[in-house]
Amino acid sequence: MTGRLEGTVALITGGARGQGRAHAIRMAEEGADIVVTDLCEQLPFVPYAMGTREELDETLAEVEKRDRRCLAITADARDSAQMHDAIARTVNEFGRLDTLVVNHGIGLPHPVEEEASDEIFDAVVETNLTAVWRTVRAAIPHMKERGGAIIVTASAGGLVPLLGQPGYVAAKHGLIGLVKALAAELAPYWIRVNAVCPTCVATPMLHNQAIQTLFSGGKPDATVADIVFPAQAMNLLPVPWIEPEAVSHAMVYLASDEAKYVTGIALPIDAGMSNQPPGITPYIGQHLADAAS
Ligand SMILES: NC(=O)c1ccc[n+]([C@@H]2O[C@H](COP(=O)([O-])OP(=O)(O)OC[C@H]3O[C@@H](n4cnc5c(N)ncnc54)[C@H](O)[C@@H]3O)[C@@H](O)[C@H]2O)c1
Repeated sequence: MTGRLEGTVALITGGARGQGRAHAIRMAEEGADIVVTDLCEQLPFVPYAMGTREELDETLAEVEKRDRRCLAITADARDSAQMHDAIARTVNEFGRLDTLVVNHGIGLPHPVEEEASDEIFDAVVETNLTAVWRTVRAAIPHMKERGGAIIVTASAGGLVPLLGQPGYVAAKHGLIGLVKALAAELAPYWIRVNAVCPTCVATPMLHNQAIQTLFSGGKPDATVADIVFPAQAMNLLPVPWIEPEAVSHAMVYLASDEAKYVTGIALPIDAGMSNQPPGITPYIGQHLADAAS
């Protein structure tokens, strides 16, 4: 059976691990050749280990196991020159670029009154919003001739607020505006531009001490078990978080011809998070009743 992305080439930023790796594998399974990029370096303020070169090479090995070609490039998405180089290498090596998945990102709590909030806000916006703009701009000249798909990973936090992460929420809301603006501008070239908006996803960006402390209401040694209830309370469907592959399915759809008339959308993959009715949901109500009895 022919894969849904047979004969195409996809470049995925933030591909060392987490969702980026899952997208690389799923897209390879659908027949795409893959380029993965990652910073492979620790950024200031980020309170968990970021992707490494070793992890990026593991992604490459996973793609090759599926008999697809793969390039793994260390590149900082904030740096236009590095992204121009990565995309030029892609086109030199594979002859084309059909799909750009701008997935990289950082997520960290910084309450508005925290001492370093200004610096953290700037750092989050630079990586999660400005770097997306720079990466897309580097790709456009190579996609204009034959068209293609640009897919940006925003967040359910790009549709509704999250507590304690103002830079993240501002950047992710900004991404959705950027996607709509670019979809309008690039439509004449058959370049479709869309966003996906996941709820919490089981990756190191969620499963780390800083987020566990935030979600648990400030418990310094909170565990994964401590955040099951608060995470699940954010969603309508009875799950606290989703697996990266659930987002990859949407990536494949948006990259494929099945979505050839879809552009400018922000697709929630969010277990209903962005559709929560206001007030106390039955799930939270039951929890309160259990706690009181
Ligand atoms: N995990 C969640 O709960 C969740 C929920 C909604 C949206 N998201 C978004 O999904 C995307 C993927 O995150 P993830 O959950 O896989 O987390 P992750 O931390 O596992 O992966 C993110 C990757 O991006 C890389 N990266 C960060 N800054 C970079 C830069 N400047 N240049 C290149 N690479 C860089 C990191 O090194 C890391 O490998 C992010 O945009 C994130 O904001 C995550």
